[in-house]
Amino acid sequence: MPEYKLAFIGFGNVGRALARLLLEKRQELNRRCGVEWRAVALATGRHGTALDPQGLDLGRALALAKVGASLAELSPEAAPPDTLDLIRSCRADVLFETTPVNYETGQPAVDHLRAALGAGMHAITANKGPVVHAYPELRQLAATRGRRFLFESAVMDGAPIFSLWRTALPGARLLSFRGILNSTTNLILGLMEQGRSFDEAVAHAQAIGIAETDPSGDILGWDAAVKVAALVTVLMGVPLKPHDVRRKGIEDLSPAAVRSALRAGHRWKLVCEARWEGERPRARVAPEQIEPGDPLHSVDGTSSAVTFHTDVLGPLTIREENPGPRTTAYGLLADFLSAVVGEAEDRSRAS
Ligand SMILES: NC(=O)c1ccc[n+]([C@@H]2O[C@H](COP(=O)([O-])OP(=O)(O)OC[C@H]3O[C@@H](n4cnc5c(N)ncnc54)[C@H](OP(=O)(O)O)[C@@H]3O)[C@@H](O)[C@H]2O)c1
Repeated sequence: MPEYKLAFIGFGNVGRALARLLLEKRQELNRRCGVEWRAVALATGRHGTALDPQGLDLGRALALAKVGASLAELSPEAAPPDTLDLIRSCRADVLFETTPVNYETGQPAVDHLRAALGAGMHAITANKGPVVHAYPELRQLAATRGRRFLFESAVMDGAPIFSLWRTALPGARLLSFRGILNSTTNLILGLMEQGRSFDEAVAHAQAIGIAETDPSGDILGWDAAVKVAALVTVLMGVPLKPHDVRRKGIEDLSPAAVRSALRAGHRWKLVCEARWEGERPRARVAPEQIEPGDPLHSVDGTSSAVTFHTDVLGPLTIREENPGPRTTAYGLLADFLSAVVGEAEDRSRAS
């Protein structure tokens, strides 16, 4: 059975959830997919790096991370402290990139993924930054190196969006999409419907770990715009930057307006959409009053949904209920299996 050496760049909520999922599913992956794995490198921003070609103990790594300790003690010898040096020296087969998103440049994730592909690894990320800032380059580099650049978790966590289009809809053309892609604003709007003030709703979203300390990226619609740009870039084939998306957030919506719409059966939602207009896709993010019967009307809490309009099927809606880091981790695991199972199929075709 092939054994794949894994590097984890980022060991926060998502990196740790992936480690737990890999440990939990180890025997199932052996039995059902014929895949074995070994973690050889771990990198964090402020909690050290670890390297062991013989295999790092992921259970111990999780215990250290839980108490905020450095991962450096897992290494038999000192590991390169610089993430790029670690990537270049770890000789992994697959790299999981889960560092924080940078909306403006996609860095440092773009450099991490570029280095991984350059060193012959499959490069898998949950980070949307590199998708909007470097998709054509990383895709091309992956093709040149016979590797995969995959990012299922970058939009709607582990729900199959990119793989749906890659594998299940051959020959279909995407005409438009419309959805709710930002969990934080959806939760805030729902809490305002229940009587909370805007500030109380934001504080609640922060307290349960959904909104960041500075929630403006969600509230002003930037996170949603990056996701729209990622979908347009990959699924419509036109590289789009977040600034190209017409954007308005939920900052001007008052609880009174939200509750008055609800009394009329309508719900305010932050809607993400894109459609072809002539030769160019036009993309926007803006709050809208959604009528009953619309598939977005019942999307509650941190759930999300997207409806695709194609040239061949009726509207196709994918909906994800209350995702969390485990869901995101599953997207990374699914990408890992797609990459290495595809590799095994290529090998058997060639033999
Ligand atoms: N949370 C979710 O459910 C979710 C869903 C979809 C997508 N995502 C995406 O997944 C990514 C990770 O999210 P998260 O919630 O796991 O974030 P997180 O908890 O903040 O973890 C980020 C990790 O990256 C490390 N890191 C930061 N800079 C680094 C560098 N230069 N080199 C190596 N490691 C570095 C951090 O280390 P230190 O803590 O030591 O600084 C930390 O271990 C983000 O891009 C996010 O947008 C997350």
